[in-house]
Amino acid sequence: MSLDPLFLRKDFPMYRKDSRYKGLPLIYLDNAATTFKPYCVLEEQDSYYRDFTANAHRGDYALAHDVDIAYEGARKTVASFIGADVDEVCFTSGDTMGLNTLAYGLLPLLDPGDEILLSEEEHASNVLPWFEIARISGAVIKYIPLVNSRITAESLKGVLSEKAKIVSLATVSNVLGYTLDVKNLCALAHSVGAIYVEDGAQSVPHRKTDVKESDVDFLVFSGHKMCAPLGIGVLYGKKERLKALRPLFYGGEMNARFHKDGSLSLSDIPWRFEAGTQNIAGAMGLARACQYLEGIGFDNIVEHERMLRKRAVDGLLSNGNCTIYNPDADTGIVTFNVNGVFAQDAAGYLGSKGVFVRSGQHCAKLLPEVLSCQATIRASFYLYNTMADVDALVEHSKHAEDFLDVFFA
Ligand code: ALA
Repeated sequence: MSLDPLFLRKDFPMYRKDSRYKGLPLIYLDNAATTFKPYCVLEEQDSYYRDFTANAHRGDYALAHDVDIAYEGARKTVASFIGADVDEVCFTSGDTMGLNTLAYGLLPLLDPGDEILLSEEEHASNVLPWFEIARISGAVIKYIPLVNSRITAESLKGVLSEKAKIVSLATVSNVLGYTLDVKNLCALAHSVGAIYVEDGAQSVPHRKTDVKESDVDFLVFSGHKMCAPLGIGVLYGKKERLKALRPLFYGGEMNARFHKDGSLSLSDIPWRFEAGTQNIAGAMGLARACQYLEGIGFDNIVEHERMLRKRAVDGLLSNGNCTIYNPDADTGIVTFNVNGVFAQDAAGYLGSKGVFVRSGQHCAKLLPEVLSCQATIRASFYLYNTMADVDALVEHSKHAEDFLDVFFA
């Protein structure tokens, strides 16, 4: 069975107005930034506010009990979606909160001179928390060299030693879209006793993720990049790893008891990482999004994005005026420039035609040096994008040097 994006668009309110936005055709190609939400997710989230609002884990009455069941049911669905056990899934506000929780939680493990291995293509969220704990602990950040923009087992081996305590990598780069061989890289990290952190922000929404199969110690991802609401995400950790992790946030429900002398007993995992009232509606929406994506099937999503990418790369290359920075990537992210036109100008021109793409450094501010290019245009596809969307991107890119005509019209 293949995927029919036009059929799927019926599920998305953003496409209800004949796929137009303010008079422009709605050609949304910024799915690596965030995705549209289907009705089923919005309804699931809404049902919490409309039909059974109460706090979770705090009430001894029927309504609160129903909320507990919905919230923990959402956790079960999300756990199954990534192949985890239910107590290994902590809800967060998103990928960034997950990575900060990990960085600060792992801080006690770090001594001066220990190494944290990253790459130069990481998003700020997978760089800055590690910078901060390196600064506090005296640990050292090292970068796994990119080989033709990719991280390979060989490039990891080149910098891996017994000093490495943490290896933290995005499985799919938000700029270049190459996919890592997580299982292999994780086994290498484990061979020197390092913890492997998977940043799944750009991979979990697009392909099957199985934490038991890859054996990663931790995985973080955001709901809003996979058809779920904003403000909900996941921190997965192997049970023993989570039990050893120091919480970053303290407050209600993450503690079993505390006393005047400052002593504190933590709640069990995963609740010790969920201080304060949680985004219950968001968790329910995320669970519904997992079911929605599973219903479509990741094989279909991967294949659909592969076809869109091929058409985009072929088309942009045949225009003769574009440089593509990841022509052989294997995901729905195409990063390019229109030669002689600043990326933001070209993106502004495309936007004036209804083609919505991101331009700039995409929060990966170490990468421009590697690419020898300050800013790029990024088109990122998802299940509701059509070949016609790609054709519009290609056609309008042909004329992007006319951006001044649009800006000063
Ligand atoms: N991380 C998001 C992006 O790549 C915001 O655009």
